[in-house]
Amino acid sequence: MVYRRVLLIGLLSLIIAIGVGILFAPVSSLIDRQEHDSHSHGTNADINSLYQNALVFPIPSHFDYDLPLIRVGWTLFRDEGLSSNNSVSCNSCHNLQTNGAETTPVSVGVGGAGSRNSLTVFNAALNYRFFWDGRTNSLKKQMNGPVHAPKEMASSWAAIVDYVASKPDYRTLFDEANILPISADSIQHALVAFQESLLTPNSPFDRYLNGDQYAIDSSSKQGWIAFQELGCINCHQGQNIGGSLMQRFGYYDNATSDGKKANEKDMGRYLITQQNADKYLFRVASLRNVADTPPYFHDGRTSNLEEAIEIMANIQTGHAIELTVINDLSAFLHSLSAPRPQVLEILERE
Ligand code: HEC
Ligand code: HEC
Repeated sequence: MVYRRVLLIGLLSLIIAIGVGILFAPVSSLIDRQEHDSHSHGTNADINSLYQNALVFPIPSHFDYDLPLIRVGWTLFRDEGLSSNNSVSCNSCHNLQTNGAETTPVSVGVGGAGSRNSLTVFNAALNYRFFWDGRTNSLKKQMNGPVHAPKEMASSWAAIVDYVASKPDYRTLFDEANILPISADSIQHALVAFQESLLTPNSPFDRYLNGDQYAIDSSSKQGWIAFQELGCINCHQGQNIGGSLMQRFGYYDNATSDGKKANEKDMGRYLITQQNADKYLFRVASLRNVADTPPYFHDGRTSNLEEAIEIMANIQTGHAIELTVINDLSAFLHSLSAPRPQVLEILERE
């Protein structure tokens, strides 16, 4: 493959300019700070102050949630009665038993197959905008998408309110959560609170960042170094190791590796803005739990993580990388997998 040299533009170059010093700052300096600090199980505020100069940082292992409210959201999330033909729930495409997503390349809803791979709802609340093309900036607005989409739930808020209000069990749940009356607003409030509770702290890599040197093996450590040196971290950064920027998919090569002609491809953000500058812009994917969420990319073009890494190195960093580096990066990405959100086990045990 031939790589064209493309000038780094916009935000990326800004990040590099500001970030060079930070980028290669050894993790050990963070660890040193952590060891002199008593917050080994920090809250978000502790973590923000501790990692204020880091490009990636852990998810707090303790956070508050309102269980009665989340119980409402959890029940709604799994209820097929919310879709127009009682066949599809949020859970159909965002499986809470496994990875908060699904294993097919593209989703199938009430009206057949859609065109994009389902994103996981685990840690989704940490993303700065939602959907592959970042088209909404709040989880509440995000839900208008699946609720109305003919290929998802093909329903409406009015129909959902009628359905939920007709069920005595829901009345009790809404009452216990103190969010009566049942309305589009209270339903959305409960679904958002539930999704905000779906965080997955304590991945081996987070434990490593928090000072446990033995939490990841040496291949993962090599992978973490390569991830920084190759510049993956320029795009995949923040608490979600991604989900915080929009970038062109195919930075060095216009993603021709999927074998499609340019005009057959999903043009990402351009489909919403019709601005040429937005062609092929997609939200940088979060890499948390990535080993558990194949297939990869907005079109689910591969289920093989090593192949996904190779594609990224080629088209996003302009580097052909050796097999050992691919394997190290894969080991690093595996270390980003954490147990399912704890709140699910609490709800399931009830
Ligand atoms: C038919 C399958 C399907 C159903 C049903 C569905 N989703 Fe999705 N969901 C998807 C797909 C596919 C995407 C990615 C679409 C895109 O980016 O264009 C997605 C994206 C999302 C995202 C964005 C995550 C992120 O990181 O940006 C959230 C949050 C979400 N869905 C929540 C829900 C909720 C809540 C419901 C129920 C009200 C629901 N979904 C129902 C398939 C589905
Ligand atoms: C210039 C920005 C940029 C760089 C650099 C970059 N990525 Fe990405 N990455 C993205 C974008 C954008 C996506 C989402 C692409 C899409 O629309 O499918 C993505 C997606 C991914 C995915 C698929 C995740 C999923 O759930 O589908 C993996 C894995 C990944 N990147 C790993 C890497 C690795 C490893 C590197 C370094 C070798 C890297 N990336 C470098 C922007 C970047």
